[in-house]
Amino acid sequence: MINNSEQPEFWEKNFIDKQEMWGFDPSKSAVLIKDFFLEKSIKNILIPGIGYGRNAQIFKDNGIKVTGIEISKTAIEMATKHYGADIQIHHGSVTDMPYDKYRYDGIFCYALIHLLSSRERKKLIKDCYDQLAENGYMIFTTISKEASTYGKGSVVSKDRFEMFGVLKCFFMTESL
Ligand SMILES: C[S@@+](CC[C@H](N)C(=O)[O-])C[C@H]1O[C@@H](n2cnc3c(N)ncnc32)[C@H](O)[C@@H]1O
Repeated sequence: MINNSEQPEFWEKNFIDKQEMWGFDPSKSAVLIKDFFLEKSIKNILIPGIGYGRNAQIFKDNGIKVTGIEISKTAIEMATKHYGADIQIHHGSVTDMPYDKYRYDGIFCYALIHLLSSRERKKLIKDCYDQLAENGYMIFTTISKEASTYGKGSVVSKDRFEMFGVLKCFFMTESL
């Protein structure tokens, strides 16, 4: 089994120490994608790496049912506290997908895929595609080589760097 052994502790510790570290507002991408999903009459979505749920509420407020996957138990507890128990969140790594047999109209994966290895990234895309309803849409946002953090930390492989002593981050380009 492919597994990402170091990162669960990294994320758990971060959420315990820093709590709601990105605030409560949804990301700009979530705001844009909410409009896109509404235009496409999307009714239910999966958010892999949902964190404490800041990107979930905007979909929920617009009548879209949200299911999440999250590796940090603390982040899940925070999401439930802030956004209610009607957002179901599977606890575990996306590398162990699928967690259910649903087909989702939409998948919104924000700032997660670049944290995975090459094999894990391919598996995530395939697993998400396998859970997509016919005519569904899946959207991934990722860090790019334009980011100021590109090249920081120690080199793991081409365009992949280890930061904070544990977090491995892959910087993408349009051609990938
Ligand atoms: C950069 S954060 C983004 C969080 C959230 N998408 C947001 O924007 O608020 C990455 C998130 O993915 C989670 N995560 C990291 N690796 C994961 C994995 N292998 N499986 C599931 N979740 C993971 C982290 O705990 C964290 O919540």
